[in-house]
Amino acid sequence: MAETWLDFWQQENEFDDSMTANYNYFLARVEQYVPLSKTRRVLDIGSGPANLEDAWHDRVAEIDGIDISKRYNEIARAKHAAHPNVRFHDLDADDYLNFSVIDGKKFDVIIVMSVVQYYRNAAEVEQLLAQIKKVAAPGAKALICDLIVAEGMLGDIVSILGKSLRQGQLLMMLKLLFRLRFSSYYTIRKENGFLVIPEREWLAMCKRQGLNATFLPEPITMQEERKTLMIQF
Ligand SMILES: C[S@@+](CC[C@H](N)C(=O)[O-])C[C@H]1O[C@@H](n2cnc3c(N)ncnc32)[C@H](O)[C@@H]1O
Repeated sequence: MAETWLDFWQQENEFDDSMTANYNYFLARVEQYVPLSKTRRVLDIGSGPANLEDAWHDRVAEIDGIDISKRYNEIARAKHAAHPNVRFHDLDADDYLNFSVIDGKKFDVIIVMSVVQYYRNAAEVEQLLAQIKKVAAPGAKALICDLIVAEGMLGDIVSILGKSLRQGQLLMMLKLLFRLRFSSYYTIRKENGFLVIPEREWLAMCKRQGLNATFLPEPITMQEERKTLMIQF
């Protein structure tokens, strides 16, 4: 039985199939902020089952996905075995801020989607910002998406149900929430919670790291109270 978020992502879990609906919502909105082209090099931090790579592999120059879950990386590599411009790298779960797997590479687009809530604390997130700064090419854009900036599980649930209803996916979402209630996700969330970082703290961290960052004026993920931070290099 998983005890921490790091264990949770190594095991088969309820999100394996359901993440795609949320991702399609994001994909339909993200390009207005990050235009794509065949010359762009993309870094996907916390790439999971390769939703971004499935959609973008033939629209950009190359994509590197990095994730602590060897299980997701194996699924992702199998899906993209025929795409030499797509690579997945294992991050050490005990040392996940060590990005030596992509040493020396620079990226034009950096996406971090639904990942930092599983970090242990804000100091680690500030180290992530420093890592992003190191690998960003001049003119790059980074989007850190689906950020939880205020406490409240109920708000999260109400918002995702409302959006699912409007997207015609209410039944799918109700089924997922029911399965989650009786899964290790529920226990881990109760014991570990999510990392919540208020907007002002995000902006203060960016300022300390010398980053030019703003929050997008509208939600681009299904949970509309969650925020997306854009950093321009
Ligand atoms: C909710 S899934 C999102 C996956 C993908 N970004 C998407 O939206 O489809 C969270 C992902 O973050 C990964 N993850 C969790 N903690 C991480 C960390 N500290 N560093 C890198 N990846 C992490 C998990 O293994 C999982 O693949």
